[in-house]
Amino acid sequence: MRSDIERVLFDEPAIHKRLDDLAAQVLNDYRDRELTVIAVLTGSLMFVADLLRRIPLPLKLACLSAVSYHGKTQTSGQVIFKLAASNPSCGGQVALPDVVDRDVLILDDILDSGNTLAAICERLKAAKPRSVRVCVLLRKKKQRARHVDADYVGFEIEDEFVVGYGLDFMERYRNLPCIGVLRKELLEESSQ
Ligand code: IMP
Ligand code: MG
Repeated sequence: MRSDIERVLFDEPAIHKRLDDLAAQVLNDYRDRELTVIAVLTGSLMFVADLLRRIPLPLKLACLSAVSYHGKTQTSGQVIFKLAASNPSCGGQVALPDVVDRDVLILDDILDSGNTLAAICERLKAAKPRSVRVCVLLRKKKQRARHVDADYVGFEIEDEFVVGYGLDFMERYRNLPCIGVLRKELLEESSQ
């Protein structure tokens, strides 16, 4: 698995050190408030688990699954909401948690085209929360298809396809402890 990585961008200690800073920022901004955290699965899984354990605030956690890649390395532009895992009453329907008058913090793995986060923010804002902020582990330097930005960013990266620490290519590499750039041949092979 590791030999499929062309370049490691952030190893485990670097990620954890950055999470310490991000958590301190969030803690400082939301002191004395109760958060509703919305985790966008699956790519944010490791990030959410490691970040939230550094934030000693009362909070509720809801998980949402949104897909816009469908196994490729380019976004399809169409965002499909799959499930709201922590809402037992949703019965297969997409039901967002109750966010009326709540301070919502969305956690996602990476801000790429912006399609996913724009769609999620749009839906959440319609549900009358007190505030909505976005926190991403990675933000790609590029022109985005949709106007959306993150309030908290772990690392800024070039416009390259990365895997590891939750991020996948064709559902693989999520369990790599570091974040790295996948060898180009592997991306090309799969597109043939
Ligand atoms: P969007 O293009 O900003 O809507 O990003 C949608 C999703 O695509 C992200 O939440 C990631 O799960 C995935 N994604 C975007 N860029 C990468 C990448 O470089 N590696 C792995 N997954 C990515
Ligand atoms: Mg994702």
